[in-house]
Amino acid sequence: MVSQARFTHAPLDPAGLADALKPFGQSRMLPPGAYVDPAVFSWEQQNFFGGGWTCVGFSAELATPGSQRAESVGAGGVLLSRDADGVLHAFSNFCRHRGHELLPCGFSAQRQSIVCPYHSWTYELDGGLKAAKGFKGTAGFDERQFGLVELPVAEWHGLIFVDGSGQAGSLPDALADLDPLVAPYEPERLVIAGRHQYDAASNWKILTENYHECYHCPMIHPELCAVSPPKSGENYHPSGAWVGGWMDLRDGMSTMSLDGTSLGVPLRGLDEQGLRTVIYVNVFPNILLSLHPDYVMTHRLTPLAVDRTMIECTWAFAPEALERPGFDPGYAVEFWDITNKQDWGACESVQRGLSSAHAIAGPLSPDEDAVYQFVTMVARGYTGESAWAKRAVAAAG
Ligand code: FES
Ligand SMILES: [Fe+2]
Repeated sequence: MVSQARFTHAPLDPAGLADALKPFGQSRMLPPGAYVDPAVFSWEQQNFFGGGWTCVGFSAELATPGSQRAESVGAGGVLLSRDADGVLHAFSNFCRHRGHELLPCGFSAQRQSIVCPYHSWTYELDGGLKAAKGFKGTAGFDERQFGLVELPVAEWHGLIFVDGSGQAGSLPDALADLDPLVAPYEPERLVIAGRHQYDAASNWKILTENYHECYHCPMIHPELCAVSPPKSGENYHPSGAWVGGWMDLRDGMSTMSLDGTSLGVPLRGLDEQGLRTVIYVNVFPNILLSLHPDYVMTHRLTPLAVDRTMIECTWAFAPEALERPGFDPGYAVEFWDITNKQDWGACESVQRGLSSAHAIAGPLSPDEDAVYQFVTMVARGYTGESAWAKRAVAAAG
């Protein structure tokens, strides 16, 4: 395991953070610099995305021994590898020779060893150095000193998380109060049948804040409001590193689709309430889970710059739905693709607005309490209080 030097405080005005941390109803949003200042973005990459558990993809993408995939985690990359015993490993994505990436981020490979593409140093799937070309018999060269740098990795309901700090504690412990909400949907059993990638000209937090409120829905989402009342539902009060809530489906509507009908199969673990609601949760910092009666949608956010975020969106269905002749996931994909683009347009406009030299942090409406939960989680993080570390300490105590 490794540790990184940590800043204790993000480069933001403490008075602005104190305003964000005031009680709900009196607080303000984060200072505009949190959304537009590259120095804050660099701090976040090290302390949020590289400083705790970050979602890097799906277990199904590394299903068999020899599966390898590289993803970015904060400012660096991580190489995931499934070994011969089926154990998943995560390594810092650099070669112990002279530092070449073992795979480019976003790429996959399937082979029984990890081979550096620069001078072909070869590693076992568990990270041990297997062969260093030309070093055989070199006095004083001990392969055991040059294994890959391993990071904590965890699989949770079919999602893979990596702790870039090596110090965030137990992921299941931190998500203990989220687990009972997610478990009935059995995301680990579902099959991804739709996938879109979006490149939004917006800070990652603006996208997340937008996800946490439907105060905007009557203005920009006519399709969504037709199937789900925008003022329905409530938000949860979690103790871990997540924020979320639920909303109702309108009477007669089976799921979130353009006409409210489902062309899939209801998920087998849901009770009557699960079949009438949609749950929206965000595991800090980068994964949004939208749990529908008949499918699970994810948005995985990868920040590329202070004003740019890559969003991978997936739609997963029960295997028995995919086995139906002519099954088409388009009823879910099309609905959310329309809604996503409405959201990204609003978020990109917020980004431009907050880029003004005259921008001032605004207040939150009574309907934006989940935004408040997220903003205060971020603000506490800016002051050096990690959501993950705090939880680990509490669990240990
Ligand atoms: S940098 Fe990987 S083999 Fe040289
Ligand atoms: Fe929206």
